[in-house]
Amino acid sequence: MRHFSVQLSPDRKPKPEVSTLRFGKSFTDHMFLMDYDPERLWHDGRIVPYGPLSLEPAAMVFHYAQEVFEGLKAYRRPDGAVQLFRPMDNALRLRDSCVRMGIPPLEPELMVEAVKALVEVEESWVPDAPGASLYLRPFIIAVDPALGVHASRTYLFVIIACPVGAYYPNGLAPVRIYVEDEDVRAVRGGTGYAKCGGNYAASIRAGERAQAVGYDQVLWLDGVERKYIEEVGSMNVMFRIGGRVVTPKLTGSVLPGVTRRSCIRLLEDWGVPVEERLLPARELFDAAQSGELTEAWGTGTAAVISPIGELAWMGERWTTPRGDIGPLARRLYDTLTGIQWGTLPDPYGWTVPCASASGML
Ligand code: COI
Repeated sequence: MRHFSVQLSPDRKPKPEVSTLRFGKSFTDHMFLMDYDPERLWHDGRIVPYGPLSLEPAAMVFHYAQEVFEGLKAYRRPDGAVQLFRPMDNALRLRDSCVRMGIPPLEPELMVEAVKALVEVEESWVPDAPGASLYLRPFIIAVDPALGVHASRTYLFVIIACPVGAYYPNGLAPVRIYVEDEDVRAVRGGTGYAKCGGNYAASIRAGERAQAVGYDQVLWLDGVERKYIEEVGSMNVMFRIGGRVVTPKLTGSVLPGVTRRSCIRLLEDWGVPVEERLLPARELFDAAQSGELTEAWGTGTAAVISPIGELAWMGERWTTPRGDIGPLARRLYDTLTGIQWGTLPDPYGWTVPCASASGML
């Protein structure tokens, strides 16, 4: 285990009431920082009081968006211990995202150790209310003050943490979705498979427009032919069609989600055939018309499973047969959250101990 210096904050914020928490709005007392330059490489990992960063207005991240991020959670088990869910998967994806964005990759082990070190210091911030967790947001930004379009020489790696409540406090409410046929979020050969802010910036306008006309989010089509389904909002997407589950394959424009991968593994173990392939919107709506489409849901770290209640595309409309989360989506949600919070056994070795109830392992 690497040694990171720790500067404890003299001020401790009051812990917000879990029922009032909104996703990503309140942050803990500390954050993790680490610097990169070409001489010392990644160095000076440290935990310091949470607070504003001081950056030059010319810092490259502000101009050319050379940055990457991750999202994962720490969960309080019934025995009081704290665990992470597949943190190495996030660390490997962060490395891949760095490579795509021309950022010197961070060793995956280092990211996991940094996350564990921060969670240990912030152990008292990991909520124990049902469905609540500590969301961790590692990110790397280019900090050279320079306006030339090239890779930065210096970078900052940061991890911040925020307690989050159940994503859907009133249960798993199905969302209303329409197929976006104007904007695209990513293209093959672009940055879709990397977790970088630009992909999310490109998605914001469509989400706002969807909400203005009474939908919750959009279903994204591929950027080349505007034909194949890619993602839903900021999540991967799965459809139960007949006796199978179909999910868009990772063509380069789709994010390789950790929850997506976990769902595929569970479904295969349950004997449900999973097809990772190109899925034309036409085929999906044909399956909707024939009654073969019986469930649809998004998968992601923040919400785990987000059931889709309605899909609209060029005058055609599908609504979930039961107006509620379907049985397969429900089983995935219950199994994944059971493993994550330690109320179910973890036969896959997905969970990683992180801190004991006293804050130190
Ligand atoms: C997730 O579903 O976890 C996401 O990646 C969305 C996140 C950017 C809030």
